[in-house]
Parts: sequence; structure tokens; C-alpha cells
Amino acid sequence: MFNLINLEVNKEVRAKNVKLCREKGIILPTFAQMVDPSTTPKKVKDALSTMGLWDIHSENLFRINWKNEAVEKGGVFGEVNYLEVPRAITGTKARILALVGKWFPTGVHKVGATYACLAPALVSGNFDAVNQQAVWPSTGNYCRGGAYNSVLLGCQSIAILPEEMSQERFNWLKSVAGEIIATPGCESNVKEIFDKCHELDAERGNTIVIFNQFDKFENYLWHYTVTGAAMIEVLEKLNIKPENVRGYASSTGSGGTLAAGDKLKDMYHHIKIAAGEALQCPTLLRNGFGGHRIEGIGDKHVPWIHNAKNTDLITAIDDQDCMDIYRLFNEPAGLDYLRGVGLDETEISNLSLYGISGVGNLLMAIKLAKFYELEEDDVVFTILTDASEMYTSRLGELNEQCGPFTPIDAAKVHAASLLHQGIDNVKELGYYERLSVHNLKYYTWVEQQGKTYEEINAQWYDREYWKQLPGMADKIDVMINEFNKEVGLI
Ligand SMILES: Cc1ncc(COP(=O)(O)O)c(C=O)c1O
Repeated sequence: MFNLINLEVNKEVRAKNVKLCREKGIILPTFAQMVDPSTTPKKVKDALSTMGLWDIHSENLFRINWKNEAVEKGGVFGEVNYLEVPRAITGTKARILALVGKWFPTGVHKVGATYACLAPALVSGNFDAVNQQAVWPSTGNYCRGGAYNSVLLGCQSIAILPEEMSQERFNWLKSVAGEIIATPGCESNVKEIFDKCHELDAERGNTIVIFNQFDKFENYLWHYTVTGAAMIEVLEKLNIKPENVRGYASSTGSGGTLAAGDKLKDMYHHIKIAAGEALQCPTLLRNGFGGHRIEGIGDKHVPWIHNAKNTDLITAIDDQDCMDIYRLFNEPAGLDYLRGVGLDETEISNLSLYGISGVGNLLMAIKLAKFYELEEDDVVFTILTDASEMYTSRLGELNEQCGPFTPIDAAKVHAASLLHQGIDNVKELGYYERLSVHNLKYYTWVEQQGKTYEEINAQWYDREYWKQLPGMADKIDVMINEFNKEVGLI
């Protein structure tokens, strides 16, 4: 059996972390509390009731969940943040539901994946929060979440991201990260990020711990447990019959968000999971490569934590569609046009909840719904990982490049990129096509990143390999509870 998450205890380092948390007044939330934040200690809830969503206070760790009240300040917890995408936008018969990531601290769900990496390392003593720096290699938001959680926990961080990521990301990072490293290239230059990690490892050795989202099963586990539970809660609240829960669509990214689909599949065995990527970098669809503009979804490799056995469909999305729809959803002419096709004011204001990759995920969900000819009662779930506010500088750039967005542009984009989104660049996977996706991992992970031949084979051939993960959340929770008890603040 492979040790997918290191929970071996280093007593000496753990004791230092306990002391640090006691001095700084830090209580750590458990996975169970992230699923059900109503169980948050009262004194934390009281503190949150006057605190901003992004404030640098450790109580905000308890806002790492899908149920924050949708306000910038003082919110506590309500129902899962989700929306139903109007059919006037999707053009599908099936219903498309989406979790909304905007209401996480930092404005993105990635803060959850980073916390899931950091918390077990802290409570086991595998990361020394006093003397080591936490390194967050990322295509953007993961390092924002990692730097944010690091500062809440009173430890030093290094954020690594490609130099072409949006200015908003760099600006905000300057206020929280100890150190920022910009790597060459854009979104899909993940290899350059890995190279930088190796370089840091060689230079700085034991003074750093690298939390690599692309191979950390904690990332998988957070989405499986917390994102998966949030979707199931919505489906149950809406009384969706199990047979009508038909699909889940997400970009492959680090393989984290995609893992929420595994939870749905464990519950609704028949659902189809679509893994999406940019058409400009069609790694899964065509073993392809290239740069693209869907910020956050990476590519040119298959993440180690992507469970290819559960992937049913590959959908490649044209980044031009994403950029055009992002403009449609944010430019005044676009909003006026969409009012004209019947969106009410709530639906219009919800359009600010889609970041560029959220638009991409929506298009993947549309393709899935059309590919399987889903009907009115059927439901596909997807995720709006972050919101439009993360990319406002892109609007200015697009206006400069293409001229102002006009009512005619709005009509074209609505008709072509949304309503006429087709089932082109979609591939349904049989057993051996899934194996092809899995096999692509070899070149990145075994040849370059030190994974073993035995383990890559276990991922495919050992039926217990993926099954051991869900139970690990409870084990980590036991350790977090013991740690909190020793810290002595609850
Ligand atoms: C905006 C955005 N969308 C999508 C993703 C992909 O999420 P995941 O890494 O969980 O696959 C990321 C990851 O950083 C992101 O920042």
C-alpha cells in the first residue's frame, strides 16, 4: 500500500507548531467543519461577524468552505453558494448548476486545497512553521491561497507563478507572500514551474517545504470531501432524483477540482465526468501543447492526482470563446443584450461570478449536456472557481486589442460561443483511451519528477489505490482535533 498522504508524526516539530499556534491564537478547522461550518466554535463565529472576508486573521481559516454568507464583511455561514445557469445562456435542455467560488477568502476555492496541504503537515510536524518556508508552485490562484493561509498561520511563504498571469494576482500577492517568483511563460508552462521547484530544492534544501498541488493528494482529498459534499447538499436540497444527476464537468487543472467528480460518482455511479482543457493546448485530446488564455487550468501534462479511470469525456474549449463570453458577461453592451434575451437582474448580477476558467467550465458542462443529449430534468454540475473581478485588467487589454464591445459583438458571442457551442473537440473515452491518458503521466512524473514505476502502475491496476483516500479526511481530523486540544484555545 502506498503512503499517499504523509501523516507520520515528527514530535519535536509538532511541539513547535503547537507553541506557535498557542502564541498566535490559532485554531485549525477540520474537514468536517469545512463540510459543515455550523459546527465552528462560537468564539470564532463571533469574531467573523465583524471581520472582512479576505482579512488577515486566523479566524478566516474557518471561512474555507462553500457556505460563507455572500458578503464582503461580517458574514457567517448560510447555505452552499451555487447558482443555476439560465437556459437562455446555456442553450441546453438540461439544467446546469455551478458552485460559486467568489465567497472564499482570496476570492477563489484554491484556498481550500492549500489549507488541506498545510494543515496535515502542521499537525503531524512534517512542516516546521517556525523555521521553514512553505513553497506554493502554481499557475496563479493556488499560490495566492497558499500565501494567504501561510500568513494566517504565521509562517513564511514563497509564491511561484508564471510571469504572464494577470496583474491583479501579482499586485495582491505582494501584500501577503514573503517572496514571489515569476517563472517564464504563461498558463500552460507548468514544466518551468517544476524546474523552479527543483532549483529551489537544490539551493535551499531543508529550509523549504514544497507543496506541489499537482501531486499532493491533500488537494484531491479536499475537493473530494468538501466540494463533493457541497454539490450533493445542493442536489438533495433541490430534490433532484439520483437518476437525473448526469454529469460533472471541470478543467483538469491540478486534478483537484476534478476530484469532486469522484465523490459524485461514488454516490451516483452512472454520472459522466468531463475533464476539460484548452483547445489551444489539447494535451488529453491530442497529446498536444501550446499556450492559452484560460488562466488557472495549466496543462501539457496529466496531474499525478488525476484519477483517469473515472474520466468519461474530454472536452477541449476554445480560449477565444472564453474571452468573448467573459466580455459578454462584463461589458455594458453584453449585459444589455442579455437583458434583452430575458435575463432578470439577479441573473445579470450573477454574471460577475464567472472568472475566465469558470466560463470554460460552463462550456464543458454545455458540451457534456449536448453530447449525451440530456433532457429537461437532467442536471450537470460544474464549478465557478473564481469571479470576474480577478481579470478586470483583461477587459481593458481586450478593448485595446479588439476595440469596444458592441451590441453586434454581444449578439454574435451569445449565438455562436454559447447557443451554438457544439460537440466538436469532445472525445468519449473507452477503457484503453482512459489508459492512454493515465500513461501520459509517465513522462512527467516517473521520468522527471521522481515517482516510481510501481506507483504509476498501482494507480491503474490496484483497485484499492484510490479507495484509500476518502477515509483519510477522518484520520486527519483526529489529528487536527488533538492538535487544537494541545494548543488549548477551545
Ligand atoms: C481560476 C482557476 N480555475 C481553475 C483552476 C483549476 O483548479 P484545480 O487546480 O483544482 O484543477 C485553478 C487552479 O489554480 C484556477 O486558479
